[in-house]
Amino acid sequence: MAQQPHHSFLLLSIWTLICSLYSIISADPQFHECTSKQDTYLRSSSPCPPFASTPPPFPFSLSPGCGHPFFQLKCSSPRSTISINNLSFALLQFDPNSSSLLLSPQLSSLTSSTTTRPAATCSSDLSSIPAHSINLLGSPFRVSDSYCSRLSVLRSCSPPNLPNCSHCPWECKLVKNPLNLLRDCGSGTHSLQQQGCQTDILEYLDNFLKIGFQVEYDESQDSYFSSCRECKSKKGICGFNSSDPEKSFLCFQSRTPFSPTWIHQNDRKRVAILCSVSAALCLVIAFLVFGIVFRYRRLKSLKTEDDPTTLFLHRHRSASLLPPAFTFEELESSTNRFDPKRKIGDGGFGSVYLGQLSDARIVAVKYLHRHNQAAAAGRAFSTKSFCNEILILSSIHHSNLVKLHGYCSDPRGLLLVYDYVPNGTLADHLHGTNNLHRKSSLTWQVRLDIALQTALAIEYLHFSVKPPIVHRDITSSNIFIEKDMRIKVGDFGLSRLLVMPETSSSSSGYVCTGPQGTPGYLDPDYHRSFRLTEKSDVYSFGVVLLELVSGLRAVDQSRDKREMALADHVVSKIQMGLLRQVVDPVLGVDGETMKGIESVAELAFRCVAADKDDRPDSREVVEELRRIRSQAIGI
Ligand SMILES: *[C@@H]1O[C@H](CO)[C@@H](O)[C@H](O)[C@H]1NC(C)=O
Ligand SMILES: *[C@@H]1O[C@H](CO)[C@@H](O)[C@H](O)[C@H]1NC(C)=O
Ligand SMILES: *[C@@H]1O[C@H](CO)[C@@H](O)[C@H](O)[C@H]1NC(C)=O
Ligand SMILES: *[C@@H]1O[C@H](CO)[C@@H](O)[C@H](O)[C@H]1NC(C)=O
Repeated sequence: MAQQPHHSFLLLSIWTLICSLYSIISADPQFHECTSKQDTYLRSSSPCPPFASTPPPFPFSLSPGCGHPFFQLKCSSPRSTISINNLSFALLQFDPNSSSLLLSPQLSSLTSSTTTRPAATCSSDLSSIPAHSINLLGSPFRVSDSYCSRLSVLRSCSPPNLPNCSHCPWECKLVKNPLNLLRDCGSGTHSLQQQGCQTDILEYLDNFLKIGFQVEYDESQDSYFSSCRECKSKKGICGFNSSDPEKSFLCFQSRTPFSPTWIHQNDRKRVAILCSVSAALCLVIAFLVFGIVFRYRRLKSLKTEDDPTTLFLHRHRSASLLPPAFTFEELESSTNRFDPKRKIGDGGFGSVYLGQLSDARIVAVKYLHRHNQAAAAGRAFSTKSFCNEILILSSIHHSNLVKLHGYCSDPRGLLLVYDYVPNGTLADHLHGTNNLHRKSSLTWQVRLDIALQTALAIEYLHFSVKPPIVHRDITSSNIFIEKDMRIKVGDFGLSRLLVMPETSSSSSGYVCTGPQGTPGYLDPDYHRSFRLTEKSDVYSFGVVLLELVSGLRAVDQSRDKREMALADHVVSKIQMGLLRQVVDPVLGVDGETMKGIESVAELAFRCVAADKDDRPDSREVVEELRRIRSQAIGI
């Protein structure tokens, strides 16, 4: 399917090429010249200050014969120049609203030999003062009144600071009457009150010119502009005859009679017809192709870009940081249409399927139904919390946490794609009945490693992620085991998928929702405070530790009612000094191992304290487990 538009684009480009060739041949060569120079500018993106990124606007032009004869711009950095009456000016500013330019003479780039002057002898560093009066006569420009006024109020302090007048008559003249600098200003009366005096007139004038003086032009006074308006109404391009001293106005039309010299007089009509037919044909094809491509793209964009989830995600995180978005079809086919045989887990939020992506990666695909029994049970997902989940998960990177590979938001369902961890869960190993996961593979050393890795994952969520994340569902069924018995904690933050009040945010440190978590692991403090905190994770982790020590289930209905929960059961045994009775018989309880088991049981005892303030935080848990493990290895 993706192949099709590529063919179309190739076809389109070929036809466009042919079309543009025809139009070049049939157009006025100057028309092409005037447009292509602008194109060249666009492509080369050579700087053309003060015009930021676009080619200079009309009436400026970069190529002789195009635009207005007095607006011929030479691009260069840091300043572009225009030339008026053989004097070159840096263009500092252009304001189309007031039709004015700010100009500063550029003497270094002068072309005329008449402007050289004995600068070194008359005035050492007055680099901007030209050797004669600046004359705008014959150009559409006139110096703005305010600038003339500034010169007219200028007067020298007495005695005037004159250079050698027989040697530098022009400078002398300037000091005596600064208005001589701008020929334009001479005629008008600028009778402003004189204020103060200047000791060094030449230096003042030099600065005046460096900062620039403003000139204005009046479109209604210049016949070029009125001719141009007429030309533009006929879709022409305005220019002038550059070989004509008068620089008379010319209007370049895009389609003029076809007349290259290499074609016979008799053939011309035929070629003209051929051109028109080809042009019409390629226009029709271009339209068709565009139509197809546009529709295809629209369909595609409707699927992905317009999806509210995708829009929301892209507003909050740049696309490069987000996990890839899968299409529903991709995930459907990767799980063999959500084949029940591929189901590897089932939760209150949806089902987990084993999937194989097109690149052969094996993944776990969690399918969250938007509107199903989960919603009926008060556990509905909103797009926002689904997004929240993706944003959180995509910012988490820890070797003991399951990784999110991607997501899919589709009207048919919300899907999350995770690492598949192949060796079952800790619960499978501890309580499993099948032969696949042997309890005997869980030696005390392996159990200690599993405990430490789980604690490290929790510590990461609580201390390294900002704002901290409360997992809220640490259970032995959410600890996934790899082939090498390393573990990954999964399903974390999934409870965030529950719709929760707007006011509760992860940053407050508390999450207020309806009762949740898994029985046997749920913080008893929750029933008092209705809050799940980091310490709730510590409680759940304590229960997992007790499972590791005893090999018993977190909840066992066959036990006495008061001891149905593992925490109650083991804690009462510990309090009676009967820990040995509940230690998993699979573990050989020789002296040294028993010491480690006792230390872990004690840590678990603290973790499952009824008052959350009596529990250690995950950092302390990690430290304590490290200590116990180093002693066990030290044997
Ligand atoms: C500009 O210089 C050329 C020679 O370089 C001269 O023929 C022409 O008259 C000059 N134009 C003005 C307006 O000074
Ligand atoms: C010209 O006027 C428009 C609005 O009329 C304004 O947005 C723009 O900034 C003005 N340009 C300059 C250079 O002042
Ligand atoms: C002025 O310049 C002329 C010619 O270069 C020279 O003869 C004269 O002595 C100079 N005068 C002063 C005051 O420097
Ligand atoms: C341009 O001006 C020259 C000299 O005046 C003239 O010979 C030529 O025909 C003009 N070209 C156009 C296209 O008007």
